[in-house]
Amino acid sequence: MKNNVLIIGASGGIASALIDQYQQAGDKVIAVSRTSASEFGALENVTYHQMAQQDDSHISEFVQHLSQQNIKLNTVVITTGFLHNENEDIHPEKRLEDMNEQALSAYFATNSIIPALWLKQLVNIMSKDGSTLVCLSARVGSISDNGLGGWYGYRASKAALNMLVKTASVEYKRRLKDAMLVCYHPGTVDTGLSKPFQKNVAAKKLFTPEFTAKQLLHHLCELDRDQTCHFIDWNGEVVTW
Ligand SMILES: NC(=O)c1ccc[n+]([C@@H]2O[C@H](COP(=O)([O-])OP(=O)(O)OC[C@H]3O[C@@H](n4cnc5c(N)ncnc54)[C@H](OP(=O)(O)O)[C@@H]3O)[C@@H](O)[C@H]2O)c1
Repeated sequence: MKNNVLIIGASGGIASALIDQYQQAGDKVIAVSRTSASEFGALENVTYHQMAQQDDSHISEFVQHLSQQNIKLNTVVITTGFLHNENEDIHPEKRLEDMNEQALSAYFATNSIIPALWLKQLVNIMSKDGSTLVCLSARVGSISDNGLGGWYGYRASKAALNMLVKTASVEYKRRLKDAMLVCYHPGTVDTGLSKPFQKNVAAKKLFTPEFTAKQLLHHLCELDRDQTCHFIDWNGEVVTW
């Protein structure tokens, strides 16, 4: 039987590679993006949905639309996130004085609140038979592993994301029995998000989106499903919260 896989943030570098790999594995992929569906190439068993604005009502409407088709999701990957936004002149902060309200709000809105709204709605259409929900987080969202400082907004919004996922995992387990939630650090991946920060990354530590997607799919099969929530990296190693 084909698995139903939902990928959110479909135009992103990592999301695109995940869509390809799930599609090649024979799964049925539902992909959500701010980009119009017509901008994506046609792939068998992949359906693109445009969602220009990811707020409570649009996400709820979309989830109800899936529910009306009796779709139960086996796997969800929420890839939504940003680190810099040239149009809005948002860049990771180097020092306290670089923080500002607009940038902090934007980091939390995209990196924490959008995934939280998806967590809220998706519990109603996840399969009760071993479903998995992954949020692409980042090691810099680990509070215990923060030796370098800086990147206030991105770090804090990913730490908030981790707490939201960890907290939701308790309720998902209660409501769905065999659900497993995962916060995943993909490593440094060659996408638009990391482009301005790649110069100090050793070539062998700058991963392709294809490698990243392969690693994630591999680790998801290996994880202990009795544990409701994991925070792991691209190598399958535990990241401390
Ligand atoms: N690349 C890395 O080195 C790296 C390292 C650690 C963690 N991560 C995490 O991995 C995830 C995927 O990153 P990526 O490298 O694939 O980056 P990417 O190519 O920039 O993709 C990120 C996706 O997030 C969605 N997004 C961004 N801003 C949004 C907004 N304001 N509202 C709604 N959606 C928005 C977009 O999806 P749509 O436009 O299609 O809706 C975008 O395609 C992110 O959460 C990132 O924090 C990446």
